[in-house]
Amino acid sequence: MKLSLRFVLPLLLVLAGIAYGIAPLVDQLTLRWFVKDIDMRSVLIANTIQESLLEQLEAGKRAKTVGFFNRITKDERLYGIGYCATPAGTVLASRSLPEQIHCHDLESWMGPGQHLLQTATGPLHVTVKPMESEAAPAGRLVLVHDMSFVERRSEETKLYVFYFFMGLALVISLITVVIAQLSWRGWMSGMQALLRGEGLLRQPGAGVQPRLSEFKPIARDLQRLIHELESDARARDEDQITWSPESLRAILHGELRGEDVIVVSNREPYIHQRRGDRIEVQQPASGLVTALEPIMRACSGTWIAHGSGSADREVVDKDDRVAVPPDHPAYQIRRVWLTPEEEAGYYYGFANEGMWPLCHIAHVRPTFRSSDWAQYVAVNHKFAQAVVSESKTKNPIVLVQDYHFALLPKMIREELPDAIIITFWHIPWPNPESFAICPWRDEVLAGMLGSSILGFHTQFHCNNFVDTVDRFLEARVDRESFTVSFGGKTTAVRRYPISIAWPPEPEMVAKPIADCRSDIRSKNGLPPEHKLGVGVDRLDYTKGIVERFHAIERLLELHPEWIGRFSFVQVAAPTRTGIDEYRHHEVQVRELAARINARFAQSGPPPIVLKVEHHESRDVYEYFRASDLCFVSSLHDGMNLVAKEFVAARDDERGVLILSQFTGAARELPEALIVNPYDADQCATALNMALVMPAEEQRDRMRLMRGLVAEFNVFRWAGRMLLHAAAMRRRSRLGEKNGRGG
Ligand code: G6P
Repeated sequence: MKLSLRFVLPLLLVLAGIAYGIAPLVDQLTLRWFVKDIDMRSVLIANTIQESLLEQLEAGKRAKTVGFFNRITKDERLYGIGYCATPAGTVLASRSLPEQIHCHDLESWMGPGQHLLQTATGPLHVTVKPMESEAAPAGRLVLVHDMSFVERRSEETKLYVFYFFMGLALVISLITVVIAQLSWRGWMSGMQALLRGEGLLRQPGAGVQPRLSEFKPIARDLQRLIHELESDARARDEDQITWSPESLRAILHGELRGEDVIVVSNREPYIHQRRGDRIEVQQPASGLVTALEPIMRACSGTWIAHGSGSADREVVDKDDRVAVPPDHPAYQIRRVWLTPEEEAGYYYGFANEGMWPLCHIAHVRPTFRSSDWAQYVAVNHKFAQAVVSESKTKNPIVLVQDYHFALLPKMIREELPDAIIITFWHIPWPNPESFAICPWRDEVLAGMLGSSILGFHTQFHCNNFVDTVDRFLEARVDRESFTVSFGGKTTAVRRYPISIAWPPEPEMVAKPIADCRSDIRSKNGLPPEHKLGVGVDRLDYTKGIVERFHAIERLLELHPEWIGRFSFVQVAAPTRTGIDEYRHHEVQVRELAARINARFAQSGPPPIVLKVEHHESRDVYEYFRASDLCFVSSLHDGMNLVAKEFVAARDDERGVLILSQFTGAARELPEALIVNPYDADQCATALNMALVMPAEEQRDRMRLMRGLVAEFNVFRWAGRMLLHAAAMRRRSRLGEKNGRGG
């Protein structure tokens, strides 16, 4: 429509202009025609009347001649007629002959040209014809024709010309628009078909078509080129993308259409527990689960995990699958069953007594047992088989999670050489010296290097990993591209800081802040205006809970005004209780809290409220929203999502985050009060600062942190990995085409 208007209007204007421009020409032309006509007519009249006129003149019948002239001028066109016998005489004329006509100047009307006489009644045409006789050898007949009809005709003609051009313009426009529409549609559908790869193919039932199959490769190349340009632009613009479940889904559809996405982790996102005759669904306290769950909801793949709940077997189908989340199923969990021996050796033993303390510099010695290692190898094999059986194609995208599966990438690679394997290491990676104490360090490194991409939270951990490989393996390390080539395969080592879903689920922040504050205080027997701090962790020695309590004690020593006016609620989810170190840690934490409370509680509220139990996310968010500060004091932590969740929970832009410098989160949230958890005095000062911080400063800091978490959310974390995986897949296809392996 727009196109039509854009074309038709100018055309109309141009043609109207032409019509207007040629009007004078039309005038001239029609005038010339009419003058010619009148000349011929005059000759005819002169010839016709000559004989009788001369007779009457010779007979001297002047009155009769005038009557004769008057009769002739009844003709509508003939305006007047006259006769001059000599140039000196008077004109013998009909009634209507104009006064301007005199016998003495008749000669001037006889030359060439259009003899027009302008009068008040309009233009007249004067023709003078010699009409000689013996009596009057210089006799002249004057014929005057009315020319006003020429003007009328000329006006009419101009109007017709104008209408003609307008009509012409409309017809041309109509034809042009119809042709344009037809050819645009045809061209577009042709292009679309071409890009779909159909355009150059013979359509069934489409009659005779030219054989263009030789163009098929061009169409394919064109398609691929466009797709690659789009993908490159998207990869380049990953900072410009607003990351959300929708954008993530769009990437999966656009970049990895039809790809099989499989996640493997030890911990499952939903655990079915039997409570008497009821089955309860629990979501575990795990940063990994917090991050991956929204991703799986967005991309509906398969999540392979250890089935660890007491009712897990009761709810799966014959293939050990269950659809989750239970209320709105969006993806499948494929449960892998482990024997108690396997769980003891692989999970409690090698993973949590060996790798966990090895990677976290928390001054707990790693324990390595060859029996644990054997179970670790066996269980990694078991999961590799599960990946192969769950994969619908030969080249799935497998997202391997964490230190439980260091060997899995290589095992999957052996079974599915074309798979894209992205391994994400959710915990820190230590320096080469620390890592070197692992008796199976080479196997662990080689296993991890089966990955296409290996991700860590921070660049520091990437550097440590690459240094470790460089030190212990015969591998080629390229520090420019941050890749490691080992055993003929290349692994890219990349930094992907993990995060949380943004915005948080509406139900998490539905309860008003004021209600959260009053409910939590009354639930814990605290006065309404009582200052509240919160800590939410698994009861793990890496979380620095002991150090946190020491800092609270120090605060009350340095600032006794807070005694009885400030309490710290520590939500501590029991974890890995099968391990001695964890049981000891729990005892230590309980005793320390009791001692501090005994010292400062007197008759007032206790400074520490310790809750060693599992809390659902909604309850945790209520604590976050009820508190004046949140204290994260990890001794070493890959990222720590509790810090980001606290920020997400505070849509009132209030509350202060105190954050250990040894968390990955500290690099992203510098507006928190950054502390060294080993320094109790410094932490006490930070606690006091947080308690007295003016509302505006709280708001300024919180606003900046919320902005960062919103932008660098978990969809971006996953989206970037998937975009890189897609780019890798394109490159490997190109490599195959050029005869090189991937
Ligand atoms: C950390 C690990 C996760 C683990 C979580 C909970 O966040 O990186 O892999 O799931 O702790 O530990 P758990 O042993 O209970 O799974």
